[in-house]
Amino acid sequence: MKPIREQVKEKPWVGWLLFFATMVVVFLLGLLASSVMERREEAVFAYKQQVEHSQWDPRNEIWGENYPQEYERYRATLDTSFHSKYNGNAFIDMLEKYPELVVLWANYGFSKEYNQGRGHAYAIEDIREILRTGAPVDGKESPMPNTCWTCKSPDVPRVMNEIGAREFYSGTWETRGHQIVNPIGCADCHDADDMSLRISRPALIEAFEAMGKDINEASHQKMRSLVCAQCHVEYYFKGKENYLVYPWEKGMKIEDVLAYYDQYDFVDWTHGVSKAPMLKAQHPDYELFNTGIHAQRGLACADCHMPYMSEGGQKFSDHKVQSPLNYINKTCQVCHREDEKDLIENVYERQDMITENRKKLEELLVRAHIEAGKAWELGATEKEMHDALYDIRHAQMMWDYVAASHGASFHSPIECGRILGKGINTAQEARIKLSRILMQKGFDGKVPYPDISTKAKAQEFIGLDMEKLNADKEKFMKEVVPQWIEKAKKREATYKTTNL
Ligand code: HEC
Ligand code: HEC
Ligand code: HEC
Ligand code: HEC
Repeated sequence: MKPIREQVKEKPWVGWLLFFATMVVVFLLGLLASSVMERREEAVFAYKQQVEHSQWDPRNEIWGENYPQEYERYRATLDTSFHSKYNGNAFIDMLEKYPELVVLWANYGFSKEYNQGRGHAYAIEDIREILRTGAPVDGKESPMPNTCWTCKSPDVPRVMNEIGAREFYSGTWETRGHQIVNPIGCADCHDADDMSLRISRPALIEAFEAMGKDINEASHQKMRSLVCAQCHVEYYFKGKENYLVYPWEKGMKIEDVLAYYDQYDFVDWTHGVSKAPMLKAQHPDYELFNTGIHAQRGLACADCHMPYMSEGGQKFSDHKVQSPLNYINKTCQVCHREDEKDLIENVYERQDMITENRKKLEELLVRAHIEAGKAWELGATEKEMHDALYDIRHAQMMWDYVAASHGASFHSPIECGRILGKGINTAQEARIKLSRILMQKGFDGKVPYPDISTKAKAQEFIGLDMEKLNADKEKFMKEVVPQWIEKAKKREATYKTTNL
């Protein structure tokens, strides 16, 4: 074919044709651009503030008036219909499912009740109902401090703003029951002025400071994980004032955390059977996630747990925080081309493998506790028992670091495998030491494994009176909680908002 210039010279109408065709394309592009601008304006319009409220307004429905799509999806965390092989948002009684846990937590609140986590909008209901917070009726105190409320509600930053964090943590749990009433929500993660992400919990800011870092320098992508790290982390209640602290001073690996707790001789509770000085892991989701491949490739929690959605031409983040397996097309498949079945299989395969060793370690820990109990019975001394009990302390914390981080067997399977392997070895070390002590006391048989095949049997074995605990709780729910709600309603009626 001849070059265009020559063609135009031969047939001038070709030039005119090209000219008009170009005009039409330019005109159409112009139309498209103007339509995009209009849409954008519409989007801005839909987000126009309807109501002005303070940063400290804890009511999700008020923030929601300005951002109905985010609010609606947030409310959808009330859904309890999904369960995957190991997780999901349905209510699961974990002690029923794994009765060994009752023995691992003997003499500690978790042996009374422990359930699979549900959606964020249940946070207040669930902390009131759980047996661990006790039944503070008729002037009785809860066994838990106010620190327990910290990861449950946007009322927490509100009250902290009024009285300071130190004062907030002080006192027993029931004393702030009337103040903390709105479940986890907008003010926990957002700035009211421009809705940018905001850290509302001082413990996370202080943990960064303890590591010599400044959280204000975190990138936007890091913030999309750090808002979650306000709660989905390992922490403890320090000293008499139950001050909330993350044990990150030496690092976030299980070895760093154990070294930290050992250095400060911190003990969560003394075990009911073995008398070991125990530690309870909380939910080190953030710490373990950071050791996995997705974190190393720069993903944040929100990439899989708050994926983008689109509705009426508007893109927004899905605030129904949940298992990503409930909608693989919006989560994994944004990056991976494999089909749904294969991706789910990838997750289950990793979870199955980690669970296999986790259960093995559970059984070994039960044995170690019971063998230690037998050694005490035969007259062993504190000095003789010391090393074995510290092995039990460490091994159970290794188990818990993995078990209590519900997503970790997918987030970071290799690190979980390593920790469990080390835990199995440490638990067996304890048992070797214990069998030596038992021999010295003249016992060379096998300490029998108790029948703990159901939650009820396990709770009876450790001597819990469940009937009384449940009856007391019922009374508390009937008599005290309605008063809290009434009082909160009166307070909230005084909050100022302005309709714009
Ligand atoms: C657990 C933390 C968390 C809570 C609670 C939360 N958000 Fe968000 N929100 C996020 C994250 C993460 C993003 C994504 C931010 C980004 O990438 O810039 C976001 C984004 C937004 C945006 C920007 C537009 C969008 O959807 O991406 C708005 C508006 C918003 N949230 C409103 C709300 C409202 C209203 C509530 C309460 C009903 C709420 N959020 C509760 C974490 C949270
Ligand atoms: C203010 C504390 C807090 C913050 C911030 C927070 N969570 Fe949660 N999260 C909780 C609590 C408490 C529960 C359990 C609620 C229950 O069982 O009642 C929970 C439950 C969950 C669940 C289980 C819900 C289900 O239906 O499967 C997931 C997943 C989750 N959170 C992920 C996240 C992610 C991702 C972020 C950050 C975007 C985040 N959370 C921020 C406290 C928090
Ligand atoms: C934002 C992008 C993104 C999303 C969303 C995402 N991934 Fe990935 N995934 C990656 C990257 C990047 C890697 C590392 C691959 C590499 O660098 O070769 C990876 C690695 C993996 C691997 C291999 C890890 C290993 O153990 O070696 C699996 C399996 C995987 N992803 C599954 C999933 C599943 C399941 C989901 C949804 C729950 C998901 N991914 C969501 C980007 C993503
Ligand atoms: C690459 C995707 C991906 C990223 C990024 C990710 N998760 Fe997950 N998460 C998953 C998958 C997959 C599961 C397993 C869900 C299941 O078993 O149903 C899970 C499970 C969880 C669970 C338990 C869910 C339940 O239903 O009880 C929590 C809590 C959680 N993740 C929190 C986090 C936090 C906090 C971060 C950031 C520090 C994070 N996740 C980052 C994919 C991801």
